[in-house]
Amino acid sequence: MSKKVVAVVGATGVVGRQMMETLEKRNFPLARLVPLASERSRGKTVSFKGETIPVEVLSDKSFEGIDIALFSAGGGTSRKYASAAVASGAVVIDNSSAFRMDPDVPLVVPEVNADALKSHKGIIANPNCSTTQMVVVLKPLHDAARIRRVVVSTYQAVSGAGIAAITELEEQTRALLAGESYAPRIFPHQIAFNCLPQIPQSDAFLDNGYTSEEMKMVDETRKILGDESIAVTATTVRVPVINGHSESINVQTEKKLSAAEARDILSKAPGVVVQDNPAEQLYPIAPCATGKYDTFVGRIREDISHESALDMWVVSDNLLKGAALNTVQIAEALLA
Ligand code: A2P
Repeated sequence: MSKKVVAVVGATGVVGRQMMETLEKRNFPLARLVPLASERSRGKTVSFKGETIPVEVLSDKSFEGIDIALFSAGGGTSRKYASAAVASGAVVIDNSSAFRMDPDVPLVVPEVNADALKSHKGIIANPNCSTTQMVVVLKPLHDAARIRRVVVSTYQAVSGAGIAAITELEEQTRALLAGESYAPRIFPHQIAFNCLPQIPQSDAFLDNGYTSEEMKMVDETRKILGDESIAVTATTVRVPVINGHSESINVQTEKKLSAAEARDILSKAPGVVVQDNPAEQLYPIAPCATGKYDTFVGRIREDISHESALDMWVVSDNLLKGAALNTVQIAEALLA
């Protein structure tokens, strides 16, 4: 397999760092790594495979000789630079929401819809973190019993909002425990010892009362599963967890599935690990999912309020399967 020159746009950010670590850990066939970031990172370096590599300042010229460009520097940066990357001959795998719903851009979770990669025209989108971990669990259930409706509530870690958000949770927690005040900078309200039903924290609510994160879960789930008839409603909540998103998911299916059948189906699903033994208090939790590539599912039970629905609890590392790992898996799938 020929080695590729890979650029990471946003290499100094939480997701960019995880991208580089994932490329290294999975031994991606790399000829060269090019870390890119903003003017603020001029003079910084990253370490990769024991080497110290200078961070380059992103410009239209950054993509000469690049085969694959992994973008994770926000939607504005993707919109501004992705076309320059494609014009230079690179394939862009974009972690922002800029192109996800573009009909010409495949939105891919390799375990679910790797086939969609065949139709790419230079840009491939990586889904929203909360959507990715949900669809790896929904896909096998949809294949077995046809999903009619999904009701999801998320419990999302602050790492999804970047380094400054992690710092805010840590500093605010220490300050409040010391009896000091700490004015929020990233989040609209206190995040320590609190839950905030507003993601992203900087966006206005939409006219329908949903947040953009919630509508991403609705729209992206249908696009990835390739079925616009699936009804989805979501409530997305930021919780004072450093890393690892948790989700409570209710799934109504056309054909009734027992909890045992669902457990059996999910235990054979790629990228999914069933952790479901209530007698031993075994169910997925964020600290155990952190650093892992799989998505964990437990608390699988038949919904007592509906004749054909299941409840479950799904946890994954939002920086890995929700972002960096899925991006690298897309790159791997392209090579294959
Ligand atoms: P920089 O560190 O130079 O600001 P996070 O989400 O963890 O805060 O990380 C965001 C990443 O996106 C960082 O690597 C950041 O680089 C990068 N970034 C943000 N804006 C730009 C931009 N306009 N051009 C290039 N990189 C950007």
